[in-house]
Amino acid sequence: MEPVRGAYGPGWKAGAVVPAQVAAGREQDGPVLQALRGQDTKRDGEEVGEAVADRFICGDALEVLRTLPSESVHCVVTSPPYWCLRDYHVEGQIGLEQSPEDYVSRLVAVFGEVRRVLRPDGTLWLNLGDCYNGSGGAGGDYNKGGLKEGQPKYPGRKIARLKPKDLVGIPWRVAFALQADGWYLRSDIIWHKPNPMPESVTDRPTRAHEYVFLLSKRRRYFYDADAIREPYSGKSNPEEVYTGKARKAYGKAGAQNPSDAKRRILESMRKGRGSNKRDVWTVATAPFEGAHFAVFPPKLVEPMILAGTSSGGCCPECGAPYVREIVRTGHVNRRETARVPGHCGTKTDSTGWAPTRVSTDNWSPTCTCNAGPPIPCTVLDPFGGSGTVSMVAKRFGRHSIYIDLNREYVDMAVRRTLGE
Ligand SMILES: C[S@@+](CC[C@H](N)C(=O)[O-])C[C@H]1O[C@@H](n2cnc3c(N)ncnc32)[C@H](O)[C@@H]1O
Repeated sequence: MEPVRGAYGPGWKAGAVVPAQVAAGREQDGPVLQALRGQDTKRDGEEVGEAVADRFICGDALEVLRTLPSESVHCVVTSPPYWCLRDYHVEGQIGLEQSPEDYVSRLVAVFGEVRRVLRPDGTLWLNLGDCYNGSGGAGGDYNKGGLKEGQPKYPGRKIARLKPKDLVGIPWRVAFALQADGWYLRSDIIWHKPNPMPESVTDRPTRAHEYVFLLSKRRRYFYDADAIREPYSGKSNPEEVYTGKARKAYGKAGAQNPSDAKRRILESMRKGRGSNKRDVWTVATAPFEGAHFAVFPPKLVEPMILAGTSSGGCCPECGAPYVREIVRTGHVNRRETARVPGHCGTKTDSTGWAPTRVSTDNWSPTCTCNAGPPIPCTVLDPFGGSGTVSMVAKRFGRHSIYIDLNREYVDMAVRRTLGE
């Protein structure tokens, strides 16, 4: 088959070639994609090098990724099929491997290709859940009205090396394998579910969490901490600073009480943007009416896209993300050691602590291309399912690339994203 012309994302000029495998995949697209195809091709043919906002590709993640250009996406947010959890009824699917090792090595291969496609300053946000050896498939909740009604019954996991009831530890097996493969493992975010699936167990706590691993390609990468700051907790209330006995001793010695310094720091923090986001995220699982069983709650995806891609966009030529402008406040923090009888030496600050630099909502380029106004950054989900990542990306004005093996899901994702 002849290659078709297309554009994939930032930096892609009109006339860039989509390799034949993807073109072949598009030939068999479902009705929604077929309807869109004319529109899509027309956009591809424009002479201005404009990036196509949302791309939906039906195919095997590894094969499709191989056709995408290197270092072309800013951020990857994804949730691969969990090991031995459900059958997506499509040939070539990941998740039904005989052993955790086979599953892990398949994912390492996919994420090796993701690493090539990701920009050097990009991040991967990977959601994974765990399971128990010997469990799966049993139980009456597959019956009509049951919790798993309509889900394919899975025969169960039997790993000879593990005892029945052993936690398999799939998320960490994958995380360590990716680390060994060259990824930087930067954070194990706990997705705490306040509305977990009820379990009939009586000899362990009910599972109410999954993991979201934050991985990067390099030691330094784009991460907009300011976009996802959290409101300060009650504990940071300046009024709650210690006012006890030692306070007088500091006063007598003519030294600054550390509690005063703390109060000033907290006051200045209060005027700022909030505290750095923590690594436990409480997000309820959201009900979903479509025919897909493992849907991300949009609220879980939002911080990943906001921190992982620049709200200021990126260079239309090289794709380098814009960063927040930092301004100097002009304040100088001076530190000195105060020694109070009966207390150890303390670093204090007699001039009053205040931030020396603050970030703003103005954005600057990080390259020297001077190629015109910024364009949106691109988010990729190689296991796109119902299209939550594309939908949230669009909501925040980002471009997205979606891949899934199941054509019905591709149609569903197109409807969900473009129908919003
Ligand atoms: C856990 S679901 C993703 C759900 C998604 N995060 C959402 O919000 O809807 C995993 C998806 O991976 C897809 N999948 C399974 N094997 C695949 C493969 N080899 N290549 C691409 N997609 C695959 C399945 O069809 C399924 O939709």
